Amino acid sequence: MVNNDVKDLTLASDGVKRIEWAAREMPVVELIRDRFSKEKPLAGIKITACLHVTSETANLAIALKAGGAQVALCASNPLSTQDDVAAALVDRYGISTFAIKGENNDTYYQHILQALEHRPHTTMDDGADIVATLHEERQDLLETVIAGTEETTTGVIRLRSLANEGKLKYPIIAVNEADTKHLFDNRYGTGQSTLDGITRATNILWAGKSVVVSGYGWCGKGVSMRAKGMGSKVIVTEVDPIHALEAAMDGFQVMPMKDAAPLGDVFITVTGGWHTLTQKHYELMKDGAILANSGHFNVELDIPGLENLSIKRRNVRPFVDEYTLSDHRKLYLLGDGRLINLTAAEGHPSVVMDMSFANQALCTEYVVSHRKDLKIKVYGVPDEIDREVGRLKLEAMNIHIDSLTQEQRKYASSWRDGT
Ligand code: ADE
Repeated sequence: MVNNDVKDLTLASDGVKRIEWAAREMPVVELIRDRFSKEKPLAGIKITACLHVTSETANLAIALKAGGAQVALCASNPLSTQDDVAAALVDRYGISTFAIKGENNDTYYQHILQALEHRPHTTMDDGADIVATLHEERQDLLETVIAGTEETTTGVIRLRSLANEGKLKYPIIAVNEADTKHLFDNRYGTGQSTLDGITRATNILWAGKSVVVSGYGWCGKGVSMRAKGMGSKVIVTEVDPIHALEAAMDGFQVMPMKDAAPLGDVFITVTGGWHTLTQKHYELMKDGAILANSGHFNVELDIPGLENLSIKRRNVRPFVDEYTLSDHRKLYLLGDGRLINLTAAEGHPSVVMDMSFANQALCTEYVVSHRKDLKIKVYGVPDEIDREVGRLKLEAMNIHIDSLTQEQRKYASSWRDGT
């Protein structure tokens, strides 16, 4: 049995069914897995991956293992693990896994340290906790690390800040920056799965609700679009003038949070930032307002501030805590402010994770084969990988497109033809 700390190994057969179900919608990862099994591009490579432990992640880990890698996996969030999948990874697929849904912060960091005992050559992060732990607590392991990859916006922000301080110790590819990642995963994945998580937690009807979406990056665009599609009146709050303009021209009301606070029935933060909703906003909200976060960390809502204002807190249904304020208004916080799409639902659907994780697999292959040429910095995804993932996905969806004729190619590469 491989090293592990999972909830219950007897859940493994349910986990296998779930992993196989996700695989049906992950044809690009399947193609990569098949090639990896033949070519073994990751032979001898030890990977420590800190990702949400879901059925989609399991399919990625299986593909990496097929490529010859030894993989150790830990959770990138205390509430996102699918315990049956974790059990299956250990018991049926021989992948070391350290993840239990609902683990406390100490266990969460303990699991990261256990996954690092694997002594990785490459790392794979969703939020940069492996990189942070390696740089702060386990610098002794850095010598043998070749490179890493990072899945998400928040993680890329942390890595760039580490690099700007001159402290980054190995090259990392920001997978989030691939078009085949953020245009689909962040937009359609977060859009659908956030509403899914809130619906499963609360069973609300979206039609007619005023929904305040904070942040109009790709995730915010997806959430706003889907809330509108369900019949909600959507208000967007932003700090970036270009994003705010986009939201306005996409047809949404745009205003500061202090003006939106009294109007919203549901608040959804997707800023990737700190304390978007604070005490001064809670004080203005309607009785019964629902508060959810779908950004990576649970700091987008000021939860200590909410606790400060409250005279009572009780859990009213799974993932829903009722806070009673001193004037007896009640606010409902979902999933402890942790990303609601993975806390109360199953995260992004497999069909988009297929592209994100195809990028992860191909970028890991790339850093291993280009290890001698890489400088210590944060790289974007090589264009040839991004385009290949797009091409394979179209092929899997049986969608055919035109290609340029020779004349069109010539025109596109020349400056001579004008009016
Ligand atoms: N991030 C968002 N959705 C996810 C999923 N289904 N699996 C892994 N990571 C995710």
